Amino acid sequence: MPLPLHHLRAGIIGTGFIAPVHIEALRRLGIQVTAICGSTKAAKATADQWGIPEVYGDYDYAAMYRSPNVDVVHITSPNRVHVEQSLAALAAGKHVICEKPLGMTSEETALCVAAAAKSDRVFAVNYMCRYFPAILQMRAMIERGELGRIIHVQGHFFQDWLLHETDYNWRVLASEGGKLRAVGDIGTHWIDAVSFVLGAKAESVFATLETFHKQRLRPKGEVQTFTKADPADMEPYEVDTEDFGSVLLKFGKSAHGHADGVHASAAISQVAAGWKCSLYFGIYGTKGSVQWELQEPNHIVLGRRDEPNQILQRNTPGFDKDIAGYTDYPGGHPEGFSDAHKMHYRAVYERIASGGKSPALFASAEDGHHEVKLCEAILKSHEKQTWVKA
Ligand SMILES: NC(=O)c1ccc[n+]([C@@H]2O[C@H](COP(=O)([O-])OP(=O)(O)OC[C@H]3O[C@@H](n4cnc5c(N)ncnc54)[C@H](O)[C@@H]3O)[C@@H](O)[C@H]2O)c1
Repeated sequence: MPLPLHHLRAGIIGTGFIAPVHIEALRRLGIQVTAICGSTKAAKATADQWGIPEVYGDYDYAAMYRSPNVDVVHITSPNRVHVEQSLAALAAGKHVICEKPLGMTSEETALCVAAAAKSDRVFAVNYMCRYFPAILQMRAMIERGELGRIIHVQGHFFQDWLLHETDYNWRVLASEGGKLRAVGDIGTHWIDAVSFVLGAKAESVFATLETFHKQRLRPKGEVQTFTKADPADMEPYEVDTEDFGSVLLKFGKSAHGHADGVHASAAISQVAAGWKCSLYFGIYGTKGSVQWELQEPNHIVLGRRDEPNQILQRNTPGFDKDIAGYTDYPGGHPEGFSDAHKMHYRAVYERIASGGKSPALFASAEDGHHEVKLCEAILKSHEKQTWVKA
């Protein structure tokens, strides 16, 4: 049985695309959302919509951190303020769930690693793909050696929401989102998910990146993620982040010895027409393979050379019994993106409620820092056209 979590209280920073995903998931878990922080107008509107009692406008997160009614801070603001807001939250004695990527540079994310290590608070980075039941199942299968020795991994993370030159979001600007856009924004989800499944960290990379739209058009004001502006009200700007990239990765030793020194290749794109949010990979071992796709997350394709292939379905005998702790509905009742968020927050809040006794499978500050180091290595590899260690 999951632990009761209704005594824990959350404060949310940001009111854009992903903030309501956090709020909704917390509500489904019975956790109180007591405070919201953002622009004065949007924070008030969000508070009115969701019935959130404390409103902190003017992006005044420090005022929210002074509230005695906030135990856990969810940072859903743009990347450039993640580290500053995380460090201040830990200093104020709050637990933190920070959106990915953890920060803009490894120099600043190292500060989070140090602060989280010194603190007795729980700190998680929202690489919530770890909490799809299928991801946990594949991880368990590889850990038990059911796929034999892992040979290689291949996959992609494709979207098309930035396909047109008129598609705009703060992520396109290196000053707001970091020097790597497609790789930093969605590629790190792919790398984190694959690393988690393999039980090994990516150690070195070889990459090539490309900006298809060297110049784009942007609205004169700001727009929320996945919303469109009127093209008549736009101005041109030079693009300083990539639209797509190809990355080769070499993984280090795995915790269990079944996935040591694995090679992987990933294609990452935000201009791939037709793909909305397709995180896909196949992991190939000496005894079999697994394939999984985020847009159809309720099953795994298990491939065998000398036996028929199988479809393993969530919450049926194809999945381990203990994976059922990360799913709430019976097989055939689809769970997806918002449920993975919910399962991630449940795990973090249970960790807090149990005083550190429940499993901490979520991405730590160290994991978030490693993803940013990988992004820097990917950029360097692209510039030098050589393998680079993270
Ligand atoms: N884990 C996931 O699945 C997932 C999915 C989408 C986005 N994200 C991450 O969430 C973050 C937000 O992305 P989004 O798509 O919601 O963006 P968004 O632009 O839709 O929303 C960002 C919000 O932050 C607010 N904001 C801007 N500056 C701020 C500041 N200084 N302090 C506080 N709030 C500020 C904006 O007003 C807006 O409400 C990003 O880091 C992104 O990478 C994660």
